[in-house]
Amino acid sequence: MRTTFVPLTTDRLLLRPLEPGDAPAIAAYRDRPEVARFQGWDTPYPLERASALVAEMASITPGEPGVWFQLAIADASDHLIGDCGFCFRADEPRICEIGFTVHPDHQGQGLGREAVGALLGWLFLERGTHRVVAYADADNTASRRVLEANGFRREGHLAASTWSKGQWRDEVLYGLLGDQWKARRAGDVEWHDDLHPGDAELLDDRIYEFNVAATGYGDGRGYTGLVRDERGKVIAGVVGWTWGGSAWVSTLWVEEHRRATGLGQSLLAAAEACARRRGCTSITLGSHSFQAPEFYRRLGYHEVCSVPDKPTGHREVYLQKRLDP
Ligand SMILES: CC(C)(COP(=O)(O)OP(=O)(O)OC[C@H]1O[C@@H](n2cnc3c(N)ncnc32)[C@H](O)[C@@H]1OP(=O)(O)O)[C@@H](O)C(=O)NCCC(=O)NCCS
Repeated sequence: MRTTFVPLTTDRLLLRPLEPGDAPAIAAYRDRPEVARFQGWDTPYPLERASALVAEMASITPGEPGVWFQLAIADASDHLIGDCGFCFRADEPRICEIGFTVHPDHQGQGLGREAVGALLGWLFLERGTHRVVAYADADNTASRRVLEANGFRREGHLAASTWSKGQWRDEVLYGLLGDQWKARRAGDVEWHDDLHPGDAELLDDRIYEFNVAATGYGDGRGYTGLVRDERGKVIAGVVGWTWGGSAWVSTLWVEEHRRATGLGQSLLAAAEACARRRGCTSITLGSHSFQAPEFYRRLGYHEVCSVPDKPTGHREVYLQKRLDP
């Protein structure tokens, strides 16, 4: 006999299998372009399609590897206000992907977060799932916040990885391990003896929001310049960002045996040109005493300050150049 899904309850919600009477409510929000915008379906999303979804779910065993199972997110009166789904990987059923949608009338009240939290509890505690993943469109702030509010880590930025509504879209891959989810305790410092780029980016985003609010400058933007050899290997590059009329060079690097061939100078000139295009009046960088302070001085940079013992026995010199408009 087919196993059924035992409903999950939260403070405000019930996650239960879809029922035939849910179809009109599903069609009502899935048909809205703002709801479909970052989702796999197109609008219009008529009632017949919602009915077909409900009928299809009635024929599926929840948890069957490789098959999506969609659940109703219902309020305390058992009115459907959204849906969420899960799919265990066909080749590795201990890994599960999830997705979720909340009707616009009920968004922004923490219900998406609550529903995902309940689903995670079931996946990790009842099903013993090892890892849960989710893909969010890079511009889908609401979805990303729901995932991050539930402890998901940003694991990767997938460039033009999905074709949606007539264009290639970037996605962010989110991952959460069962062990991490079980071990976390509110308020404790969760320590990692390494630097996880996704965590760094999350903290950068949060501090950037503060910085924008404090200064009114909301034009922060990165840049990257790369030089490759004939096979495609990166042999030199520059990365940094511009913000509020100032530019910063985080890293400028040229492969050892290609130094003194003009590559560094070209990359720095490209960064300065980008800074000018973006209306910056200065460009700043840090260079260790054993690196290249002289190189920058020759190119019009002057020392602003220098930090001793960074690292021990060396200095880091901060240099700046005024940029003509
Ligand atoms: C994504 C979605 C389910 C969020 O549901 P929701 O119930 O509105 O989300 P919540 O109220 O639980 O919000 C949780 C977090 O998201 C933030 N958030 C919600 N909507 C937001 C928005 N439009 N912009 C920025 N942040 C938003 C909340 O402030 C909260 O952040 P916090 O944890 O830092 O306080 C809902 O917007 C939706 O259905 N969107 C369309 C379908 C979709 O894109 N699904 C996801 C596909 S991966």
